[in-house]
Amino acid sequence: MKLEIIILAAGQGTRMRSALPKVLHPLAGKPLLAHVIETAKKLEPTAIHVVYGHGGDLVRERIADPQVQWVEQAKQLGTGHAVEQAMPAVDDNSTVIVLYGDVPLIRAETLQTLLQQGEAGLGLLTVLLPDPTGYGRIIRDEAGQVKAIIEHKDATEQQRQIKEGNTGILSCPGSRLRRWLKSLDNSNAQGEFYLTDVIALAVNDGVNVQASVIADVHEVAGVNDRLQLADLERNYQKRCADALMRSGATLIDPARFDQRGSVTVGQDVVIDVGVVFEGDVILGDRVRIGANCLLRNVRISDDVTIEPMSLIEEAEIGKQCSIGPFARIRPGTQLAEKAKVGNFVEVKNSMIGQGSKVNHLAYVGDTTMGNDVNIGAGTITCNYDGANKHRTVIGDRVFVGSDTQLVAPVTISNDATIGAGSTITRDTPAGELTLSRSKQVTISGWKRPVKIKGNKAK
Ligand code: UD1
Ligand code: CA
Repeated sequence: MKLEIIILAAGQGTRMRSALPKVLHPLAGKPLLAHVIETAKKLEPTAIHVVYGHGGDLVRERIADPQVQWVEQAKQLGTGHAVEQAMPAVDDNSTVIVLYGDVPLIRAETLQTLLQQGEAGLGLLTVLLPDPTGYGRIIRDEAGQVKAIIEHKDATEQQRQIKEGNTGILSCPGSRLRRWLKSLDNSNAQGEFYLTDVIALAVNDGVNVQASVIADVHEVAGVNDRLQLADLERNYQKRCADALMRSGATLIDPARFDQRGSVTVGQDVVIDVGVVFEGDVILGDRVRIGANCLLRNVRISDDVTIEPMSLIEEAEIGKQCSIGPFARIRPGTQLAEKAKVGNFVEVKNSMIGQGSKVNHLAYVGDTTMGNDVNIGAGTITCNYDGANKHRTVIGDRVFVGSDTQLVAPVTISNDATIGAGSTITRDTPAGELTLSRSKQVTISGWKRPVKIKGNKAK
């Protein structure tokens, strides 16, 4: 059977106290709504309809997903009214699942079960809460069969004692949903068209209503304010941390770990506290990442050590390399095997050859470096002339003395040695020592000035 998913995202989200529409607030670096869409896609629906309202244009722009069919709900007249806005585009032969743009952690596996119930009649997800204030209550008969949902504001004192609440997530055939929605009215405490009223209509039609209680409440938890958002963020991070540990990584403290994208790990990877992963990160076997590093879209090969406080983005790091502490590796960088980038070194858009070392305080930009090169402390590739960028090419086994400027475009041939403190503006020959340095002089007998009495230094 065909599946279509309707995601409600028209609400304002006043309690966020934000200029940004609620569903665009990020969880793990990605808008809440994008999480719901991503999960929806796992079920391979024929269509995903997103009902938007407040901040609609910005929502459409930021989500910009060609698979989404956008439906406007100009006035928020209730959840039933919201779903109805999407119905003209829904096929009668489809089963529908209703989700919420501000309920980001629902799992695809949970929805698979719900879908089966929806195909057979009507499936409903419920939640047991110690304090279900505000939730619609699930009304069951003596046999435990669901009869209706009564909204908190419409419920009697007795009904309010019921701890089983409605999550709002449901599934049923499109043709029936269309009919039930048409017969909704808004004569209730809130003057809204309640989606929840379709339950009683389904029961009345003799449809098999199956309500399942969710085991993990985080899956159905909505975001109404920033406290709830932070709570769900931690829960999401715990899921990610658990998955990594199950696949064989050691997290020194899973509570101090952040993943905002995908992370793939080899065997026996060790991740210290405060590490943030963004985008797509691939870590080989025995990679060790020190405290407080940020890795964004990187591929790290086996046996690499990253010392604390390093930032690495859009780079490929070869086997047995060592990076940091306090290293910054910028986009377009490749480190061949056993290369070393040490403390306070910035590398940008450069290739560092096998076994080459840039150990301290250096800037290497737009550079192609051969193998077994040694770059002294304080070396700078001057790649920018104020208008254009130029490349520096360094051959194999080059030794660059400390505090040297290599003014690009420039080529340092194989086995060249550059004397410390040089400013190199022309290509240097292979195997020779090249340096540019003013001669050292000693002024013998020179005396330091002495302070004259009564002379007040300003
Ligand atoms: C709803 C349910 C309630 C359930 C609770 C769970 C109804 C009538 N009630 O109540 O049974 O326990 O959720 O959180 O369905 N929305 C629109 N357009 C509208 C109204 C709402 O898109 O016109 C969207 C909101 O953006 C939100 C969701 O629907 O994502 C739920 O709306 P909300 O007003 O929060 O419903 P509740 O009163 O919490
Ligand atoms: Ca709500």
